[in-house]
Amino acid sequence: MFQSRSPVDGQHDTPYRLSKEGGQVMTRQIVFYRHLLHSLGTLALAVAILMALRAHPVVAQEVTFSKDVAPILYESCIECHRPNSFAPMSLINYEDARRYAPRIRSRVQSRRMPPWHVDRTVGIQAYENDYSLTDKAIETIVRWVDDGAPRGDEADMPPLPQLLEGGAWLLENKFGRPPDVIVRSTPYDVIENGQDQWWGPTVPFAGLEEGRWIKAYEFKPSWPLGLRVVHHGHATLRAGGRSIGIAHYGVGKRYETFPDDVGMLFPAGEAAVTWNLHYFPVGVGAPQDVVEVGLWFYPEDEEPTIETRGEVLMRVDRMGGMPRGGDILIPPHGQQVLQGAHVLDQPTLINSFRPHMHMRGKEMSIEAIYPDGRREVLGKVSDYKHIWQISYQFALDQKPLLPKGTVLLFTSVFDNSTANPLNPDPEQWVVFGRRGVDEMSHMWVGITELEQEEFERLIAERKAKLVSQQDQGGSEEKR
Ligand code: HEC
Repeated sequence: MFQSRSPVDGQHDTPYRLSKEGGQVMTRQIVFYRHLLHSLGTLALAVAILMALRAHPVVAQEVTFSKDVAPILYESCIECHRPNSFAPMSLINYEDARRYAPRIRSRVQSRRMPPWHVDRTVGIQAYENDYSLTDKAIETIVRWVDDGAPRGDEADMPPLPQLLEGGAWLLENKFGRPPDVIVRSTPYDVIENGQDQWWGPTVPFAGLEEGRWIKAYEFKPSWPLGLRVVHHGHATLRAGGRSIGIAHYGVGKRYETFPDDVGMLFPAGEAAVTWNLHYFPVGVGAPQDVVEVGLWFYPEDEEPTIETRGEVLMRVDRMGGMPRGGDILIPPHGQQVLQGAHVLDQPTLINSFRPHMHMRGKEMSIEAIYPDGRREVLGKVSDYKHIWQISYQFALDQKPLLPKGTVLLFTSVFDNSTANPLNPDPEQWVVFGRRGVDEMSHMWVGITELEQEEFERLIAERKAKLVSQQDQGGSEEKR
């Protein structure tokens, strides 16, 4: 753009000198040229500004469904919000999204959708399964709703992502094959409006001829009814004289994939799976419901060096061998805080945490108190919702590596006031119990216990990585 102007300036001398000899005609030509050149310059400037605006929009552009909002919904919402799913409505089409626009605005602005309840002000912030929205995406949605939810140009619509068939294994795409082994619960008639129901069959089967290492598991309620009525569930495998929690499910947490070189052993020999299923139907039943667990193994010749225990239950309420947590007693309209401590008697890698409370649950955190007395919040959920049981999985190189003797301290906060939107009745005294209207408090913690040498090796690897990252960062700054 500037190039077209500089020759213009450079030519001024020549026409003027000519005009001295050529008279009026030349002068008019010069005037004409000057106008032309001036207009060209202005045009060039205008084009330059327009191009700059395209790259860095500084003026408010209209936010439309097709151009700006649909890409966000397709990326972060429609896996759940699509026809016949367990979520209340589909958000695939403009018409549907517009109908729910005010609710969408309120849910994304308060960060209640997509469901992800980690406190952003404290603890580790990098999670490998974090699907929360960026501040920018939230702003876009809010502006779209505030501007009257315009449709925009149909031609801007993003292609509809390929959604998995209802009832498909979510991990099948990742591994490129169905599970290597599938185990099933026995059918159970879930009665609608029946409140909490439990089902705990033990199902024997032939088992494996040779032990195999589990790389990943997925817990699959039936589709679509099972997804609505199974609140949480566990599958415990008994084989080779061992008892192993092979799969744990809660609404919002379906599978777990172990990092490379980490696995869970499925021993050889006759086997049985004991199910612990908590059905919590809200207005829908599910006749003859069956739950499945799929397991993906490491290749036969690949044996991971580290055995993980998967998710381990760590209590905050005090069971002490009794079927009651004697310490939960929340007065009407009151609050209660409970703490539980667990000492790690081996060096430990923490993969994930998943708070479990019921309807009065409000907050839950996991802290480490190191042997030298330092104290650090690892993760905290400050907006707990009983309807969601999400496993927060730390990013690979941020998974806490804790020395032997570290204390894990859990803190739960219950809110029995009217400020808690899920509170069914603030007039009640609330005690421990298995029903959703009673209370509980424990955390499922993804635990991999390590030998001292493994622990030191992992610490050394992490330090080396940090140092090399700092070196790279340093050289970049110098440039
Ligand atoms: C993991 C599945 C899942 C994802 C992802 C998800 N939702 Fe939801 N959504 C649900 C379920 C289940 C409910 C009903 C239970 C609840 O309210 O928590 C719900 C409720 C809602 C509601 C309230 C509906 C009502 O009846 O008032 C809105 C609005 C909403 N979601 C919008 C969104 C938006 C927008 C996104 C993406 C930015 C999103 N959701 C992502 C599963 C999901």
